[in-house]
Amino acid sequence: MIRLTKVSKQFKNGTWGLMDISMSIPQGEFIYVVGPSGAGKSTLFKLLLKEEESSTGAIQIGNVLLSQVKERQLYMIRRQVGVIGQEDLLLPYLTSAQNVDYALRVLGLSRKIRQEKTTKALALVGMLPYKDRLPEELSAGQRKKIAIARAIVTDPAVLIADEPTGNLDVKSAVEIMKLFLRINQLGTTVLLATHDSTMVNSVRNRVLEFNNGRLVRDEQQGGYTKYADPKDTYVW
Ligand SMILES: Nc1ncnc2c1ncn2[C@@H]1O[C@H](COP(=O)(O)OP(=O)(O)OP(=O)(O)O)[C@@H](O)[C@H]1O
Ligand SMILES: [Mg+2]
Repeated sequence: MIRLTKVSKQFKNGTWGLMDISMSIPQGEFIYVVGPSGAGKSTLFKLLLKEEESSTGAIQIGNVLLSQVKERQLYMIRRQVGVIGQEDLLLPYLTSAQNVDYALRVLGLSRKIRQEKTTKALALVGMLPYKDRLPEELSAGQRKKIAIARAIVTDPAVLIADEPTGNLDVKSAVEIMKLFLRINQLGTTVLLATHDSTMVNSVRNRVLEFNNGRLVRDEQQGGYTKYADPKDTYVW
């Protein structure tokens, strides 16, 4: 369960990233986070990861109140919340397997357990045959899959993805989307920020729409906009 209670975020320069957001997300939900550029989607994710502090309000993830988490306990959040950023940021000199393993290194697991988890995560995203490739030897869609494997390898309760299909062609975007659905079916809460209206309209889930830092729509089985265009869907 994720719960935000009257959360606002004002950046140092005075800009409001989010204003008075209250919502709760039960474990295992699949959520689209939509809204125009600058709406506050990435800000929401930064607050959930405690990369930024909220100015007011309370954020609870599971039984943890983020305001009470100290710097040296941040790894606890990172273990609970996997993230795929707007850029993949794979380490260029590490192979696929090493990039995924990297997320496990801070957890103090044995090499054998790490290897098992890495193999499982790479297999789940269908990238085991590419485990020894460097990022530069992969396509953009393949790199995205490695970033997903890295985000789920710690078995997080929540997976955050910030526009993961932004620069992919339709076929790769659909493949990535199917991966998120599979991960969600395994019990992980998925929060997916996207500008892909067709995807949101094709696979209906709860939609949180932001505008100017405010939550303007919270709809179960919603479309990308309140009045979705029936022709704006993928056939798959
Ligand atoms: N570090 C920062 N300092 C000041 N203002 C910021 C900072 N980060 C974001 N903002 C502002 O907060 C608002 C919300 O930005 P945010 O990055 O959350 O938008 P977004 O919905 O993710 O947009 P996009 O779809 O373009 O990724 C914008 O007005 C942005 O300019
Ligand atoms: Mg953003």
